[in-house]
Amino acid sequence: MRTTELQSIKQRYNIVGNCEALNRALDVALQVAPTDLSVLIVGESGVGKEIIPRVIHDNSPRRREKYFAINCGSIPEGTIDSELFGHVKGSFTGAINDSPGYFGVANKGTLFLDEVGELPMATQARLLRVLENGEYIPVGATEVRKTDVRIVAATNVNIRQAISEGRFREDLYYRLNQVPVQMPPLRERGEDIVLLFRLFALQMAEKYRMDKVVLTDEAKHLLMRYKWPGNVRQLKNITEQISILSTDRQITPEILARFIPQDQETTQLATIHSEGEHSFENEREILYKILFELRSNVNDMRREMSTMKKQLEDVKGATPTQLSTVNSQLSTVTSQLSTLNSQLSTLPSAEDAVAEEYVEPEMESLNLNDLSRQMLEKALERNGGNRKKAALELGISDRTLYRRLKQYGLDK
Ligand SMILES: Nc1ncnc2c1ncn2[C@@H]1O[C@H](COP(=O)(O)OP(=O)(O)OP(=O)(O)O)[C@@H](O)[C@H]1O
Ligand SMILES: [Mg+2]
Repeated sequence: MRTTELQSIKQRYNIVGNCEALNRALDVALQVAPTDLSVLIVGESGVGKEIIPRVIHDNSPRRREKYFAINCGSIPEGTIDSELFGHVKGSFTGAINDSPGYFGVANKGTLFLDEVGELPMATQARLLRVLENGEYIPVGATEVRKTDVRIVAATNVNIRQAISEGRFREDLYYRLNQVPVQMPPLRERGEDIVLLFRLFALQMAEKYRMDKVVLTDEAKHLLMRYKWPGNVRQLKNITEQISILSTDRQITPEILARFIPQDQETTQLATIHSEGEHSFENEREILYKILFELRSNVNDMRREMSTMKKQLEDVKGATPTQLSTVNSQLSTVTSQLSTLNSQLSTLPSAEDAVAEEYVEPEMESLNLNDLSRQMLEKALERNGGNRKKAALELGISDRTLYRRLKQYGLDK
């Protein structure tokens, strides 16, 4: 294994970990990069599959050409063929212009088909054809087009089971799986778990200019014993929650236990997330972002008020009334801050906070769904309706954003 090359790849992509299975996955990616072979990345949800296609593209002869990552699970069934293979003007309502589709625009480049297991059967047939001879027919067109696209795909569902249930074409599976890359689950990565905690804690400390949280030796052991059903994504979420909510910066097993689900089922079974758990985690992420933003807003207000007070005191001529107004505003803000701080620190655990639909007093009339809906609406508004950007801003996947929009009837 080319250790120095692996080290530099890890540095370049901010990949943390030294376990053998991760090194093997990266090594396969590097070896296969110069070829045009299709690669299928498999692994449970949250293991870090999305890093691999980028590594492959950037180390391939196609590196200066286009790279697109497409989440097959987030594109509605009715439009996926036209998104991938393009369409001609007038082929359906709303097709006001010709569109080349991803296979047209990515010619000579790389397409990453994420969650490929979610592709509808009709799209699978078109995909098989383009993979076999580079030919495809845009929706509504009559003539065949040619393209030269390298495919990297990923899935967290058991494709073999999908094949046996008739939901995935076996011939397409073999065509996509010319080279498999297996991403290991987090629970099998040993000390990498601690290294990843350190990385995420440092990122939080830098982002929010706070002291970073540090694990005690006992806490490290607890972290390594946990089964991590949501893998690296779950570890990242939990590290972020601890960074924000723990008043102690030294993290003991007792503190850790408040954030890690205690349920034996979740700690011992290596399950792939069900739909419900997945969205629950994302809801929680959004909620914590709101809470943290609230706390930093109050902090900012307090700082501003202090500066104003100081400025007024410095100005000779400040009337006693002006001073007393500022003083009383300052004490209101300070008391708001301490209420907020004590509410945040007395949350029994991240899990319970959401289970009880915990909300700030100012927002009593809103429930968690309302909050989440408002966050989505605002993020979409700020990004001119661009779903990809809104999802990025909220720190959730395109797929989750799409599900939420559908749930709130905002997908029209
Ligand atoms: N080795 C690693 N070092 C640093 N960060 C990592 C590592 N592996 C994963 N991550 C981070 O963990 C998160 C989850 O990874 P990613 O989105 O690639 O998961 P996934 O395998 O695609 O999951 P899903 O199947 O649910 O889409 C991302 O924020 C990613 O940056
Ligand atoms: Mg993914």
